[in-house]
Amino acid sequence: MPAGVVTASYIVASILFILSLGGLSHQESARRGNVYGIIGMAIAIIATITSDQVSGLGLIAPMMIIGAIAGFIVAARVQMTAMPQLVAMLHSFVGLAAVFVGFANYIDPSIHFEGTEKTIHEIEIYLGVFIGAITFTGSVIAFGKLQAVIGSAPLMLPARHWLNLAAGLVCIWLGIAFVGAESIGAGVLPLIIMTLIAFAFGVHMVMAIGGADMPVVISMLNSYSGWAAAATGFMLSNDLLIVTGALVGSSGAILSYIMCRAMNRRFLAVIAGGFGTEGGTAVAAAEDAGEVTAVSAEETADLLSAAKEVVIVPGYGMAVAHAQHVISELTQKLRSAGVNVRYGIHPVAGRMPGHMNVLLAEAKVPYDIVLEMDEINDDFPNTDVAMVIGANDIVNPSAQEDPNSPIAGMPVLEVWKAGTAVVLKRSMATGYAGVDNPLFYRENTRMLFGDAKDSIEAVVKSLT
Ligand code: TAP
Repeated sequence: MPAGVVTASYIVASILFILSLGGLSHQESARRGNVYGIIGMAIAIIATITSDQVSGLGLIAPMMIIGAIAGFIVAARVQMTAMPQLVAMLHSFVGLAAVFVGFANYIDPSIHFEGTEKTIHEIEIYLGVFIGAITFTGSVIAFGKLQAVIGSAPLMLPARHWLNLAAGLVCIWLGIAFVGAESIGAGVLPLIIMTLIAFAFGVHMVMAIGGADMPVVISMLNSYSGWAAAATGFMLSNDLLIVTGALVGSSGAILSYIMCRAMNRRFLAVIAGGFGTEGGTAVAAAEDAGEVTAVSAEETADLLSAAKEVVIVPGYGMAVAHAQHVISELTQKLRSAGVNVRYGIHPVAGRMPGHMNVLLAEAKVPYDIVLEMDEINDDFPNTDVAMVIGANDIVNPSAQEDPNSPIAGMPVLEVWKAGTAVVLKRSMATGYAGVDNPLFYRENTRMLFGDAKDSIEAVVKSLT
């Protein structure tokens, strides 16, 4: 493909990626956003592999076919509940690719720069490998934590901030040695040592982050993978990769900011780690907090039939139970009986941004009754029944009331202010942050124990 056509294709692909991001920001347009992204990526791949710069199609084609088949199988098989792990794993691939491209670019004998251009090129390589290596191991650890292969409690090494600082200073020193190296042979050693340090840094950084901060970690690694791709774009002088990387990097950074705000956390405090430790005073306090009141599905149906205002608060348990369709059925039933049913969605409900919205949209719950936390929180005092379906941390009053709670300061949905809060879960187990929840012991709380899908099916049956 001639260079002019490649450039034009890259511009079209960039525009499609921007349209895609715009589309993905609203549920109504998310599907369209996805289609723009797919078309943009197809154009980008075709333009790149048919450009004059790229040779070795005989090797690229089978690799692409193997990759496409593997991607198809994984995407078709993955459960919605395992999506965050998949995303973390895919981020790790971007990081590893940046490391490989950086090394390949450095030792490629056909690439030759002199003077300032050489210095700039080497800085690009060094930064690309550095960010890529952190993204790779950080994402692998995030995968392990989300998959529960690694415990969610933060690893608090003594003097960990000093360790990080020392690693950072050594990497700067190695960078100076790398950029000033006379020959490729002399530069490879500092590059390898820095890569190993960055691998260890990625592991340490994410290991130190507690369960409650994982939403920010996912969006942060998303952002890093974008910057790693952008750095690779600079190395390869590929404008589209620079634009795409910058789009992913900056949208990930914005998402991290939104997540931090949703959890009332500062980004640097998240990176410093330690939030969401297992245990904490909330557990001890809740143990003395009294009895829980269990209800049956019939009693819950009676409460709902007598209500005028109902707010449903879904959480991770809704995804585990695949309860969204039966919840949608319950909603229709109540609405046709004249009950005003709305949903309250916490920004970090579930295990990935927008998790609840995607599931509710799949179950055809009307968008206009699905409200954000800020839009609905003031309405709980006028709500007859708040139904908490498989949610825990996002409705924990100790975030507001107990300054010693590990999740103190995190904004939560104030379901305890409703006339009655009915909590659907299987046991008294804690949620992701490992913190006990005093909501379950409140006088106006009723616990409907069991799998959320089975429980709601029974409630729906009792309503008829
Ligand atoms: P969680 O606090 O994790 O609580 C989910 C609850 O669902 C559990 O207590 C569990 O109790 C219940 N559950 C599980 N399976 C169930 C089933 N089949 N039927 C009924 N209940 C079931 O969830 P949340 O309230 O949505 O809060 C999200 C948490 O995840 C926050 O701590 C957040 O920081 C973290 N997180 C969020 C993200 C993003 S981006 N959203 C990413 C990573 C982590 P039982 O076991 O007793 O049933």
